[in-house]
Amino acid sequence: MEPPLLEVRDLVTSFRTEEGVVRAVDGVSFQVPARSIVGVVGESGSGKSVTALSILRLIEEPGRIESGAILFEGRDLMGLSEREMRDVRGDRISMIFQEPMTSLNPVYTVGAQIGEVVRVHQDKSRKQARARAIQMLELVGIPAPQERVDAYPHELSGGMRQRVMIAMALACTPKLLLADEPTTALDVTIQAQVLELLKKLQRELEMSVVLITHDLGVVAEYADHIVVMYAGQVVERGPVDEVFASPRHPYTRGLLRSLPSLGSSAHPDKRPRRLPSIEGIVPDLRALPKGCRFQDRCELVIDGCREGTPVLAAIGDHRAARCIRSKELAP
Ligand SMILES: Nc1ncnc2c1ncn2[C@@H]1O[C@H](COP(=O)(O)OP(=O)(O)OP(=O)(O)O)[C@@H](O)[C@H]1O
Ligand SMILES: [Mg+2]
Repeated sequence: MEPPLLEVRDLVTSFRTEEGVVRAVDGVSFQVPARSIVGVVGESGSGKSVTALSILRLIEEPGRIESGAILFEGRDLMGLSEREMRDVRGDRISMIFQEPMTSLNPVYTVGAQIGEVVRVHQDKSRKQARARAIQMLELVGIPAPQERVDAYPHELSGGMRQRVMIAMALACTPKLLLADEPTTALDVTIQAQVLELLKKLQRELEMSVVLITHDLGVVAEYADHIVVMYAGQVVERGPVDEVFASPRHPYTRGLLRSLPSLGSSAHPDKRPRRLPSIEGIVPDLRALPKGCRFQDRCELVIDGCREGTPVLAAIGDHRAARCIRSKELAP
């Protein structure tokens, strides 16, 4: 069997705060198979962005990657020098950051910004970099790329700017794209167009995508695998069709049950679907309960859940869930 393109193993990333050290990512493990889309979902603060930033080793003070392995194309990225890491970033692995407006520089044309990415990683002249920028704008479906290459970000619509972000991220044809909420700021019609584009490019360029989203509908439609995060940990993961058909963690089950009309892309309110709400709130990472982190919101909670810490246990070859009652959820 082909080895996974990326394997995150027992990743722990913490932040020093005034109230002590907070483990924002606490023992996260998952794989990204080659040429696949892995959807990462979880409520706000569950550690999705910190996981993605950790993969690229972009965690800054007061944060720190404490431990874990990030195996990519046969190497552990944790063992690379900062210089070697710079060669990986933007070239082999690239990222679309959660805040799109902060990622495009307002004072440079989009062509200059795409060209810059190419010039950092490849020995290209200005002219070649510009030609590549035009080619990329065309690839991401921006009309009149020869003219738009000289446009400034503010001259483009939100959807077009997001396409430019994708063009920048893919300019060096990376093997892995980390897309952190790439369409959240867009209205639903544009969101679907951008996601369709991402999926098409993922296939054509034979890359893998880690797609971070609040939207389970997006995962259902675009992802091959799902990773469900809760309070800094993976609580369930597996192939999308299997997890959606029979979730094995009460949190996943709750999310799916409260999801309105899955599969229909009609949104009456024209806004992206947010993660459906489950009663209660995510526990404070600084004051986690003993035992399962989901216990206070769980409808299946028993005494055992408040005593031992549940492990992420394998279910067959491809799935896992972190719940002592997981077996009872099997159909
Ligand atoms: N710079 C920081 N300083 C201190 N704590 C941080 C910092 N960045 C993140 N954290 C901690 O990490 C937790 C997880 O943050 P993260 O940004 O990964 O959440 P997320 O799942 O991406 O949420 P969202 O859906 O809102 O984007 C936060 O709740 C916070 O406790
Ligand atoms: Mg985030």
